[in-house]
Amino acid sequence: MKLGFIGIGAISEHVITGLIQHGGHDEIVVVSERSRHRSARLAERFSNVEVESDNQTIVDRVDVVFLGTLPQQTLDLLDTLSFRDDQVIVSMAAIVSVDQISEKVKPASRIHRLIPMPPNELGVGPIPIYPSCPDLTPLLSRIGTVIPVKDQQQFSTFSASSALMATLFELVATNARWLESKGVAAEAASQYSTALFHSLATQSRELKAEELRTLSTDCLTAGGLNEQVLNATRDEGWYEELAAELDKILERISG
Ligand SMILES: NC(=O)c1ccc[n+]([C@@H]2O[C@H](COP(=O)([O-])OP(=O)(O)OC[C@H]3O[C@@H](n4cnc5c(N)ncnc54)[C@H](OP(=O)(O)O)[C@@H]3O)[C@@H](O)[C@H]2O)c1
Repeated sequence: MKLGFIGIGAISEHVITGLIQHGGHDEIVVVSERSRHRSARLAERFSNVEVESDNQTIVDRVDVVFLGTLPQQTLDLLDTLSFRDDQVIVSMAAIVSVDQISEKVKPASRIHRLIPMPPNELGVGPIPIYPSCPDLTPLLSRIGTVIPVKDQQQFSTFSASSALMATLFELVATNARWLESKGVAAEAASQYSTALFHSLATQSRELKAEELRTLSTDCLTAGGLNEQVLNATRDEGWYEELAAELDKILERISG
């Protein structure tokens, strides 16, 4: 399967790096020149990456076209390109619907939306896809957990849910900063905090939906340290506030 990427921004670079470095994808990957510094970096790192300045030539050379442009850039870009009916188009752009893309890429009709994440570069992370695509699943499974999504409303819901990333990072950083404030050396503080959250995330990955629901209470010792923090943050309304903020994000995404 020959892959092409148009729009080599942050997310394309993560996905391509993940596919090659963790997924062992060794076929040619044709990438657009823009952004120049990222395409040059990819070509320097990976011998199977070829940079192409003309977007139509990328489309003509490949079976699957990944779009890594911003929403309006994606719509403008598609107005300039012609596709074949045997091609698969994978849009990573937020907001732009399958129908909007479909109107612009005829006779191609196999159109999918993805929500990749920076950690896919490391071979991990959720990858919601709509509509599901058995042909692409083996490829994408090399860099994360492919989650087929039933409709675009649900796709937007997953997209909103990903807005918790920075909050988690802030929790990790707060923990490390707090350790430092109590005299722990900066390196040990960051080692402890990152290893703690990494281990907990790894542990939770194995859990079923029902187990996840009761995870925080199951791991508590009655009257213990974790219970104290959980109860205090619950009493402060932290978790309701998070859910309410996700509602607002979903409204924003859904327009
Ligand atoms: N970043 C994430 O973690 C993430 C996660 C999931 C989904 N997404 C979605 O993925 C899309 C891209 O996000 P991003 O963060 O990667 O944005 P970005 O870094 O701004 O990347 C956009 C890229 O598109 C290029 N581009 C614009 N017009 C082009 C054209 N006509 N031909 C070729 N390349 C063109 C830009 O090149 P120039 O620099 O030369 O303008 C830039 O490299 C967005 O819709 C975003 O919502 C991002």
